[in-house]
Amino acid sequence: MILLTGANGQLGREFQKLFKRKGVRYIGLGREELDITDMDAVKNFLKEKNIDYIINCAAYNDVDKAEGEQKKCFALNCYAPENMALESKKIGTVFVTYSTDFVFDGLKNEPYTESDLPNPLNAYACSKSEGESRVLAAYDRSFVIRTSWVFGMGNDNFVKRVIKWSKNSEKLNIVDDQVSAPTYSKDLAEYSWKLINTERFGLYHLSNSGAASKYDVAKYVLEKIEWKGRLVRAKTAEFGLPAKRSPYSKLSSEKAEKVIGEKMPHWKNGIDRFFEEMEEGNF
Ligand SMILES: NC(=O)c1ccc[n+]([C@@H]2O[C@H](COP(=O)([O-])OP(=O)(O)OC[C@H]3O[C@@H](n4cnc5c(N)ncnc54)[C@H](OP(=O)(O)O)[C@@H]3O)[C@@H](O)[C@H]2O)c1
Repeated sequence: MILLTGANGQLGREFQKLFKRKGVRYIGLGREELDITDMDAVKNFLKEKNIDYIINCAAYNDVDKAEGEQKKCFALNCYAPENMALESKKIGTVFVTYSTDFVFDGLKNEPYTESDLPNPLNAYACSKSEGESRVLAAYDRSFVIRTSWVFGMGNDNFVKRVIKWSKNSEKLNIVDDQVSAPTYSKDLAEYSWKLINTERFGLYHLSNSGAASKYDVAKYVLEKIEWKGRLVRAKTAEFGLPAKRSPYSKLSSEKAEKVIGEKMPHWKNGIDRFFEEMEEGNF
């Protein structure tokens, strides 16, 4: 039996769909049903059920808000996963959790591998980086999977925001000095599940292949919807956001691809399939 925490987020929903398709038994719990920062609730839940895998999809993801809410952000992204890893160790359950490309400072200018050293630039990234280390130190049957710019059904994301902005504007300014790769939550769930089944525990990168700036992603999306407005290149500094951003955080998924024996699809292919999914009415 699998326990999915944060089950109503983008990735959580995708895992639920995947497990339904595959007939895999799981219990999916949202924040209201299981708050992962409430360790007594997590312990009590695990005591009552026979869980073989915990897949933690819960996270604090608001990068700018995190600057002023560091305590909350660390509780969710760092201490809760560490505690869940320790609890998993006690009962022999495999533990899976997610991290971010933002742990890197962007100075490398070529895809980051798992052996590159993190140097987080903001509070959100610090909470994730510290959480990764604690989980990996706590339990050797853990997977920590870094990903980037997740989009899919469920929650808000950059692809959906571009579509929304295009409806109310004739001109959009989008930054071209943040480069990574958008990752379709469907691919992330499917390839994570393949990876988890190998039981080759440890730290991995999983993002759709190809690198893109936010501008490139917006351009691709806006062309698909045949938007007639004007897309303008902008710079991160123009927006004066509270959290510092990494200029380049493309992840290399090579390690995971070798273990799984399959390549991650290209981000454009992911967006194409996301559009098909939206057209099917699952938005
Ligand atoms: N989204 C991205 O661009 C991105 C990029 C890099 C890495 N990641 C990582 O990838 C993983 C999946 O991300 P995602 O996009 O699926 O995130 P998401 O859509 O924001 O989902 C996170 C879920 O966690 C739930 N949650 C919040 N606090 C909780 C708590 N105390 N206990 C239990 N659940 C709680 C949220 O519920 P509420 O909605 O009720 O708050 C939400 O359903 C996360 O670890 C994330 O940090 C995401």
